[in-house]
Amino acid sequence: MSPAPSFPIKVGHIDDVQELGKTKPSYIPERFVRNMTERPTLSTTPPSCDLKIPVIDLSKLFNENNNSSQDFLSELSNLTLACQEWGFFQVINHGVEVSLLESMERMAMEFFMMPLEEKQKYPMAPGTVQGYGQAFVFSEEQKLDWCNMFALGLEPQYSRNPKLWPTKPAAFSETVEAYSREIRKLCKKLLKYIATSLGLGGDVFEEMFGVAVQAVRMNYYPPCPRPDLVLGLSPHSDGSAITVLQQGKCSNSVGLQILKDNAWIPVQPIPNALVINIGDTIEVLTNGRYKSVEHRAVTDKEKDRLSIVTFYAPSYEIEVGPMPELVDESNNPSKYRRYNHGDYSRHYVTNKLQGKKTLEFAKINN
Ligand code: OGA
Ligand code: NI
Repeated sequence: MSPAPSFPIKVGHIDDVQELGKTKPSYIPERFVRNMTERPTLSTTPPSCDLKIPVIDLSKLFNENNNSSQDFLSELSNLTLACQEWGFFQVINHGVEVSLLESMERMAMEFFMMPLEEKQKYPMAPGTVQGYGQAFVFSEEQKLDWCNMFALGLEPQYSRNPKLWPTKPAAFSETVEAYSREIRKLCKKLLKYIATSLGLGGDVFEEMFGVAVQAVRMNYYPPCPRPDLVLGLSPHSDGSAITVLQQGKCSNSVGLQILKDNAWIPVQPIPNALVINIGDTIEVLTNGRYKSVEHRAVTDKEKDRLSIVTFYAPSYEIEVGPMPELVDESNNPSKYRRYNHGDYSRHYVTNKLQGKKTLEFAKINN
């Protein structure tokens, strides 16, 4: 069995952007200032309607006994299109109680608002991805993201590090547990519809994944005096099978952007909706039919922003590769090799975020 990914790699001291912001700096420290090519162009005009990521009404898919109804079939075709053309969509009527989304947001916000000394009781060790800090930093030269992260492994049980579970806010752990259980159910349902949309049996992913890996990461983006110079989160695709992202309501700032046809498209928050995206693992399993999509976060001059992100992936032991049903040796040969998912996870967390570069691990270069 492959161990949970964790590699101790030493890095220097990283500034805490929240603390930095409090000092009202007159300039942005060099480590956060992006090279010209990476700087975001911040447009003030809203994107036109046809550049909005799709919205899927899950209540139309939930009704199991009615999966030949017009509503079901048309929503399934919307889902197919969303996965194939966008790799990103928002879900409404997803079945997760609004009160639970709100409690989770409140807990995460309360956590980030605690004094630094309190948060530092749960430090993200250099080169690891759990705890409070900045993940994916491996060298002194690397540019830093304008973001604080707090991440926890949830499943399987052995991926948990009890020392990193905060005792404050008091209801934090309990809320994370309840939230994770509900989001896990949602992920299983989504994978079922994704399988159906590919013409596969609804249970293929559930059966293949074993005890699925689940982790949660809360990202807090403080306001930045020069949003034109920095990135909240570097461009990347997720290593997961699918990702569920909750955008905080508290601030209402648009920060998530996805790369589509060479343009960065903002993901406009819809109240109580969840953002779903295809991760690298589904790209490999579907032999590229459904692709993971590069995305990033930008910051705002006045508003802070919070996101709560769940990564859902197969068990570390399983072997991943294009599913035979989706490969055709003459017309659509395998684009990816077979590999152990734990090896991919380790590869993912030990490299800096750099677009879709991590997936080169799996690509077959014909
Ligand atoms: C992530 C991610 C975007 C956001 O955590 O992987 O893409 O809006 N976050 O915080
Ligand atoms: Ni992401």
